[in-house]
Amino acid sequence: MKAIQFTSFGGPEVLSYIDLPKPSPAQGEILIETTAIGVNFPDVRERMGVYNQKETRVGGVELPHVTGLQVVGHVVAAGDGVARAMIGRKVMALMKKGAYAQFALASAATTVTLRPDADDVAMASLPCQGATAYLTLQASTLLRAGESVLVHGAAGGVGSLAVQIAKALGAGTVIGTASSDERRAFVRDIGADLAIGYEDPNWPRTVLDHTQGRGVDVILESIGGDVFEQNFECLARFGRHIVFGSTRGPGNPIAPRRLMTKAQSLTGFYLPIFFETPELISRALAFLADRVTGGSIKANVATVLPLSRAAEAHRMLQARQVQGAIILDPAT
Ligand SMILES: NC(=O)c1ccc[n+]([C@@H]2O[C@H](COP(=O)([O-])OP(=O)(O)OC[C@H]3O[C@@H](n4cnc5c(N)ncnc54)[C@H](OP(=O)(O)O)[C@@H]3O)[C@@H](O)[C@H]2O)c1
Repeated sequence: MKAIQFTSFGGPEVLSYIDLPKPSPAQGEILIETTAIGVNFPDVRERMGVYNQKETRVGGVELPHVTGLQVVGHVVAAGDGVARAMIGRKVMALMKKGAYAQFALASAATTVTLRPDADDVAMASLPCQGATAYLTLQASTLLRAGESVLVHGAAGGVGSLAVQIAKALGAGTVIGTASSDERRAFVRDIGADLAIGYEDPNWPRTVLDHTQGRGVDVILESIGGDVFEQNFECLARFGRHIVFGSTRGPGNPIAPRRLMTKAQSLTGFYLPIFFETPELISRALAFLADRVTGGSIKANVATVLPLSRAAEAHRMLQARQVQGAIILDPAT
């Protein structure tokens, strides 16, 4: 089979398009003949060796490595403990590695069956960013109907899905942040009630004005820096502040007692940990497949490139040239 592998860490040029033996499914695994492969920023970070540095070590990557976290395709083999009926089904899967290939292994427990007419490319864009967005709202906290939500980076992959998922889960006011007028227009288009820019230091005041001075019940925080601190200016009593990224670097240390006066909570989120609770991942994938098929959530795909051009996909992602997901086509 064709696959993209790297044998040393470095720039996009370390990604080689090569022949590898088809893997065999172990207990609990399925082998998927892929039709669409989603690219994520963690793939770039794995390739760069970021996770192997002492200060950012979160598991590390062993070389040689086939990166990639998500695919759509058809099940062609099943390991012990997996129902034979899975063979032949079209599935969407989240995995820890190995997606950039014509055949990929996934745990059956972090896979969901798709309808035969499901859009392979749209579905392949969802698992990592979509499961992150869903689980922040359904596992890190339990969003209640009518509650207000502030989603940072709402024009990005996780953010744009979080806005739509929050609405689909019955949120009241949903506010999104983004860095330009064009991106804020996109955030409103996907259903946010208000889109604001975090460059204006008074943005928390705008959130307060829009929530009758209460602030929001839930904040999905992925920015860091000053924004992390400012969030507390517009977090309601009993508010939940969920940190899942730091695109601008970490904020200042926080004194936990500041959470007491308004009985607020601060929660961290890290998707790989959820492989320990695969039922939560499969619940997230099933929700996404259902809502995207039904049309209430829209996947945002920027472009499809041949698998052989994975290095170009990484260059585009690093240069922030794309608005939406990049999908690799294993057939070309
Ligand atoms: N904890 C987890 O398990 C987990 C899982 C998935 C993703 N993440 C993290 O969540 C964040 C968003 O991921 P994503 O896949 O949605 O990424 P993405 O599509 O690239 O979106 C990132 C968003 O952050 C905003 N941003 C603000 N400052 C930025 C900067 N200096 N560089 C880049 N973007 C900046 C961008 O919006 P504007 O240009 O409009 O500001 C963009 O919308 C990332 O930090 C990622 O590492 C964490």
